[in-house]
Amino acid sequence: MDRRRGPSVRLRLTLSYAGFLMLAGVLLLAAVWLFLLRYVPVRALIIPGSTGGTTNGVFPVRSNLLHVFAPRAAAVLAFLLVFGLVGGWLLAGRMLAPLSRLTDATRLASTGSLSHRVRLPGRKDEFRELADAFDTMLARLQAHVSEQRRFAANASHELRTPLAISKAVLDVARADPDRDVDEVFDRLSAVNTRAIELTEALLLLSRAEQRSFAREDVDLSLVAEEAAETLLPLAEKRGVTIETLGGITPTTGSHALLLQLVTNLLHNAIVHNLPEQGVVWVSTDVRPDSGAVLTVENTGGPVDPEPATTLTEPFQRGTGRAHGDHAGVGLGLAIVRSITQAHDGTLTLTPRPAGGLRITVELSAPDPHSAD
Ligand SMILES: Nc1ncnc2c1ncn2[C@@H]1O[C@H](COP(=O)(O)OP(=O)(O)O)[C@@H](O)[C@H]1O
Ligand SMILES: [Mg+2]
Repeated sequence: MDRRRGPSVRLRLTLSYAGFLMLAGVLLLAAVWLFLLRYVPVRALIIPGSTGGTTNGVFPVRSNLLHVFAPRAAAVLAFLLVFGLVGGWLLAGRMLAPLSRLTDATRLASTGSLSHRVRLPGRKDEFRELADAFDTMLARLQAHVSEQRRFAANASHELRTPLAISKAVLDVARADPDRDVDEVFDRLSAVNTRAIELTEALLLLSRAEQRSFAREDVDLSLVAEEAAETLLPLAEKRGVTIETLGGITPTTGSHALLLQLVTNLLHNAIVHNLPEQGVVWVSTDVRPDSGAVLTVENTGGPVDPEPATTLTEPFQRGTGRAHGDHAGVGLGLAIVRSITQAHDGTLTLTPRPAGGLRITVELSAPDPHSAD
């Protein structure tokens, strides 16, 4: 955008200061002039000796007064003009100084340097508020960009792993004349399945982040039941009992994404559970203040409170990793977080004192006006 450069704000402020000062000066002088006119007669009879005059007669006092008054008034106005211009220029400069700091910071940010902050000193005023808001925005942007970079690096790394494993399997098989072809197929197939799972999880994540899905009325309790039914065989295999609780829990959103959310939470609750006699509690609830609430709670090993908050980052896995055929790709909770955010909900992870995790997802109740 190449716009013609207009007069600077400093100049415009200076001119308005000086202009106002001149106007006030003119008004004041006019008032003085009117005052003088009221008390000074048009003509006066001067008697010699009484006022130091030498001649007597009738004198036009007023026209003399004008001669005396006009040059002085002009001098006062000239002084006010100079004073207004100089003072205005200095004052405007002082007022606008924070703006140039903001401009510098914006220029730096637009060249990609997001680590710079304005950090405007002084008391809270309009400029300070703007600068603080700008700093907050920069901090969020910086965090977002570095999160994206981390994500891209991690995703590339995770995508490379199955390819590297396939290559190793193929290399070993080629070098071995007595290779077991079926075993090679099995291993390649397993690696391939995992790579597909990972790619699908990545696609799902980006779909949830785009927020481009149709919203419909959904009963969260039915969704939870559906997910529990699907995962029942896995739970039985691992000796985990699932207890579901809750009546009709209406909310709005994408049925498919919400099902994915509950499935991921339930899958985690089963997989990251005690080796035997684990329990998973799934409940849905309607709350007057927060709408629909889903809670998934499970027994398990102790979870540190500090890393619990970072578990929702992509590819973040806890220490006690679930191995074997149901190890996740590390995107389960990241997908849950994205789906929750896309539904304007809140996700809370709380480690249970006895071990395991309690996860709540608060969603809004359906908008009564949108019913159609
Ligand atoms: N219900 C849970 N109980 C205990 N730990 C959990 C639970 N859900 C997730 N976690 C921890 O959070 C980590 C991240 O979970 P997730 O994003 O689903 O990745 P993944 O399951 O693929 O490892 C897991 O590795 C696990 O350590
Ligand atoms: Mg998982």
